[in-house]
Amino acid sequence: MNSIPQSSETSGWPGALLADLRQLEAAGRLRLVREITTAQGPEVEVDGRKVLLCCSNDYLGLAGDPRLKAAAIAAVEQWGTGSGASRLISGSMTPHHELERAVADWKRTEAALVFNSGYHANVGTIPALVGRGDLIYSDALNHASLIDGARLSRATVRVYRHLDVTHLESLLEKDKGRSGRRLIVTDSVFSMDADEAPLQAICDLADRYGAWVMVDEAHASGVLGPEGAGLVRELGLGERVQVQMGTFGKALGSFGAYVAGAQALIDTLINRARSFVFTTALPPAVVAASQAAIELVRSDDSLRAGLLERVAMLRAALSERGWRVLPGRAPIIPIVIGDDRETMAFADMLYREGGILAVGIRPPTVPEGTSRIRLTITAAHDESHLARIIQALS
Ligand SMILES: Cc1ncc(COP(=O)(O)O)c(C=O)c1O
Repeated sequence: MNSIPQSSETSGWPGALLADLRQLEAAGRLRLVREITTAQGPEVEVDGRKVLLCCSNDYLGLAGDPRLKAAAIAAVEQWGTGSGASRLISGSMTPHHELERAVADWKRTEAALVFNSGYHANVGTIPALVGRGDLIYSDALNHASLIDGARLSRATVRVYRHLDVTHLESLLEKDKGRSGRRLIVTDSVFSMDADEAPLQAICDLADRYGAWVMVDEAHASGVLGPEGAGLVRELGLGERVQVQMGTFGKALGSFGAYVAGAQALIDTLINRARSFVFTTALPPAVVAASQAAIELVRSDDSLRAGLLERVAMLRAALSERGWRVLPGRAPIIPIVIGDDRETMAFADMLYREGGILAVGIRPPTVPEGTSRIRLTITAAHDESHLARIIQALS
């Protein structure tokens, strides 16, 4: 789909839908799906043209890595293509269990559970832990899947200002006399701003107010911390963060997600997380690729170190050229433009004139007035690719 068909109908089927879509289009908020006609990599083909890919979360460039591909192919040969049923019926195969043992070992937790995606993990885990009468404290910029999980739980949700532990503390203090469980939920590296949650201070508050802490490491898994195990491990908070969640679809180049923590947490999720219980288990090949990725990030620091070095270099170069680049270490480089239409026009110009695919991000994904180009780079981008980005943004 490239644009909305013109029609004078505004009601019935599909007139009512077309009228909604035209409104989105008029507001500069219409989203379209682009077809990538080659495999993922630093350069891809779109509309018959080779472009530099600067918006993928394949941070370590593993989505096309021969070692992951070989693991997936071997798993297809040994285990077939589908798992045939949910984990609780007959879909729980040896590769799933091996991956869970590998995650627990990597994260240094008692146990781990594989979910079909990060979205599944978050919408399943939060309602499994808290419900009506309980309290959730959620950072204002948490990922949509955490927000949806919180809504599904029916717990009372208190949103604290982004990274603001003083605000979080005041909310916890106000609720002091209330009964019920308390769960603080935060991304570790924020997906649209690339900044990092003050996890140490959050854990201190959690201890003081008797709250549990859940951290989403989707953008830190494979990228930060010893063995790429994430920010929680980097800060030595593994014992104080009750729920560590992360995904395999970004830096780990595969697909799916995990929750790691105490055995009691995992047993609770197996029994109560509806997005775990009521869905067919991941295909063994996907699971095997995730396991190969974990082995790779644990055994080789060089990809991660090289990536973080290049990110710092690119951030500095763009700031020097006067761009408003939000600070951070992660390979997400948000360049805030503000206005929706200007952002989309700028992304379009980068694409048409610079051959750079770096999509514009608008509300509701980011707050009103902060539309941005979310530039991401990966370990597969070399010096010449970075030079192209800098030149296009000059
Ligand atoms: C912070 C965060 N959590 C969860 C998810 C969902 O993960 P998945 O893509 O595996 O569903 C994403 C992005 O997709 C994310 O950015």
